[in-house]
Formats: sequence, C-alpha cells, structure tokens
Amino acid sequence: MDKLESTRNRLIELLANAKEQYISGQNLSEKLNISRSAVWKHMKELEKDGYNIEGVSKKGYRILEYPDKLSANTLQWGLNTKWLGKTIIHKSVTPSTQQVAHQAVQEDAVHGTVIIADEQTKGKGRMNRSWHSAKGKGIWMSIVLKPEIPPHLAPQLTLLSATILAETLAEFTALEPKIKWPNDIFIHNKKTAGILTEMQAEQDQIQYVVIGMGINVNQDVDEIPEDLRGKATSLQIESTNSWNITELIQHILVKFEDAYSKYIENGFSDVKVIWERYGYKIGEIVTIKTMRESWKGKFLGIAEDGALLTTKDGEIKKLYSAEIEW
Ligand code: BTN
Repeated sequence: MDKLESTRNRLIELLANAKEQYISGQNLSEKLNISRSAVWKHMKELEKDGYNIEGVSKKGYRILEYPDKLSANTLQWGLNTKWLGKTIIHKSVTPSTQQVAHQAVQEDAVHGTVIIADEQTKGKGRMNRSWHSAKGKGIWMSIVLKPEIPPHLAPQLTLLSATILAETLAEFTALEPKIKWPNDIFIHNKKTAGILTEMQAEQDQIQYVVIGMGINVNQDVDEIPEDLRGKATSLQIESTNSWNITELIQHILVKFEDAYSKYIENGFSDVKVIWERYGYKIGEIVTIKTMRESWKGKFLGIAEDGALLTTKDGEIKKLYSAEIEW
C-alpha cells in the first residue's frame, strides 16, 4: 500500500468511525499529518469513487453515503483488517470466484486473498448445484486461506464461516438469521446465503482452502428465479431495505478475521456455542439424509468437533456428512 492509499484508508476510517458526526478539516489534517488542502483533495477523490461527502463550513466533513460501486479500492478504503483482504481481486464478471481463487493460488496468492465479482456466469453451489449470481445483486466472494490445521478439521472452517455470516447479518440488518445445518443461512424460513468450501490437501497438511460465500442481498422477489421463489430470499425482500454491498463485505471481512484468528488460537469450542445459538431447528424432529439412508430423528445440535448430532432409533448418532430437511 503506498502512502497516498494508506492516508486515504485512514481518512475513511476516521470519517466512518465518526458516523453522523462531522470532523473538522483541521482535525483531519492533524490526525493524518497532511495539509488542509490535501484533505480537500482526498475528499474530491473519494467523491469520484462514489462516496457522497458533505462538507459544511465551521463543522467539517462527514460521509452521507458509501459507494455502491464495487472495486478493490472501495473495498479496501476504510477496511479495518490486518491480513484479510490486503489483496482483493475484483472482477466485474467471471464464471466463478472459486475458479479465480484456485487460479490465484497457482500464481502465489497469499493467505487472506479475497476474490469478489459483481456477477458470476457459472456460480457453483454445494453438491454440484448452480448458484444464481446476478450482477450487483449480492455478494459473490471467495476467500483464500492457508490454515495450519489438519485436513480432517477443515469442515470446522465451514461451520465457522456460517457463524461469521449469521453474526454479521444479525448485526448489520437486525434480521434474525438462522444457520441450517451445515452452513446455509436462512431468514424467515428461506435460504439467503450459502457457503462452499473447497480444499487442496495432502495426507496430513492443508495446502489451501477456498471459502466461497454467496449472499442474496438486493434482489426483489421477481429477481429470484421462479423455481426458487418458495425456498430462496434476499436481505432486501426480508427487510424491505436495500443494503450497501461494499459496507456489508467490509463488516464480514472484519468479523471473519477476528473470528478466524480466535478459532486458530483457541479451537472450535467457542464456535460451537455460537453455531448452536443460531442453529435452526435444534431440538426438533427433522429428516436426516445420508448417502445411504434417510430417517426422522431429533436434531440435537453439534458435537465438540462440529459433527451433526441426531437421534436414530432412540440412539445418538454423530454424522460428518448429511443433509437435514423438514
Ligand atoms: C451453497 O449453498 O450451495 C453454496 C453456495 C456458494 C456460492 C458462492 S458465490 C461465491 C463463490 N463462487 C461460487 O461459484 N460459489 C461460491
């Protein structure tokens, strides 16, 4: 990051932290150690990038609106993370950000590289399903991680990611997201977001993991494919508000960095507690489907290692790969 860019990041951070309050040009110039005319020039540059900044004499500046135009710059400016999103690859259109992420790793992408697209033409879901990713309507993002954990623990990263999404969406929108096992985010009984984890590993070592997140943000009902309307929704549909995608991504990344670092340091036990706080239908009778069979049982929550706990014929079963339905 060059000096100009880091000054601008800091400027946005100061304005963003002040929220509705004005910060005087003098105050900004002192905090940033630049002249007042340099502050003014930065403001003009920010406006070019789509920030709506109000400048009032004797009061100062404040941000009225953040840009809704996605770019690596608008995402990084004001992004308060240490390692996540220090490299952001932004594509206006791409088949899949997962594909871009795998390619980026071949070209030495570092831990914490983030890939974002406005639109995906071949968005991938779990189980070889496709994922609708219309232009500018949602968050289509992949995160490259190089975790030093054994490969068998990788599914915990997916559960961790689900808790991060649920917590961020709850804070950001005041809606009440639920996590449907293992990692779909539901709001008002319909799917709003999904997570796809792909891993490259050797016997006992993960080379890298790509966490793909798809979040339906600003679709209207008629923009949800007709065959999915009974099952899928968006934040806008459920809240009757549209949401700033750049801001939401920044919130996710900040929470992701924090939660991931705590997980690497402390293990899965705190993640389990948060997962169960948001877990959907815990304590209820659900249909459990594995590769081989399907039965009705009670969903008991998750085990210390993240496995699904259910009942089957009166006994407790621990499952590592299953779907639940109701
Ligand atoms: C699912 O619920 O089935 C998972 C959906 C994951 C979709 C995201 S969008 C960003 C990333 N790129 C993809 O092609 N898929 C994931």
